[in-house]
Amino acid sequence: MDKSFNYLISPEIIQLREFSPKLKIAILASGEGSNFQELINLSKSNRFDIDIKILITNKSAAGCISRAQNSNISYKVIKGSDYENKDYFEDEIINTIKKHDIELVVMAGWMKIMSSKFVNAFKNKIINIHPSLLPSFKGSNAIKEAIKSDSKITGCSVHFVEAEVDSGSLIMQAALSISDKDDLETITKKIHLLEHKILPLSISQAGYIIRSRFMGND
Ligand code: GRF
Repeated sequence: MDKSFNYLISPEIIQLREFSPKLKIAILASGEGSNFQELINLSKSNRFDIDIKILITNKSAAGCISRAQNSNISYKVIKGSDYENKDYFEDEIINTIKKHDIELVVMAGWMKIMSSKFVNAFKNKIINIHPSLLPSFKGSNAIKEAIKSDSKITGCSVHFVEAEVDSGSLIMQAALSISDKDDLETITKKIHLLEHKILPLSISQAGYIIRSRFMGND
């Protein structure tokens, strides 16, 4: 695939902010973890002041686990089926996050809808990445639906998480065109490349907002 396709990112943030001490984050992921890996790489090479305190996954065979293992990052598998109900499952996640003194929770391919109880436990401190230009194409088949709809432009979004699925104020978006030559595979790959650009920048932006709030600067 040609990696040099045209895209547009808004807002045009180009630099990661500095955090001292490092921004403490938790990652929630259910899949391959390529976004998680991008964050690991940036952190390891000291290009981004984040401290990934823990990866939480709800899938025992998720690719993100080996990425955590390879980089000595703590991880915990918390599967819905191991708990009597969703409430207990979410309690376990909430307690795990609280134990790690987290400033920002990053949903990077987290495929589970969370209740308002969870969202309120970390109010305005959870962000999510979604593979469409929200508010279009919410839900788990966003890329497929964008292509099926004959859209000529699609992309990805990072937003603060609200109780309603794939809603909440937008932090950043990246857009790209869909040409006749594209299919699900090429668009998915291109969106992933753009996600790897906007997720770190959005974390940086969200971290700055959260720290400013904490300091009473806003
Ligand atoms: C991304 O496309 C994200 O937008 C979606 O799930 C995918 C996760 O990819 N919610 P990866 O696991 O980070 O590779």
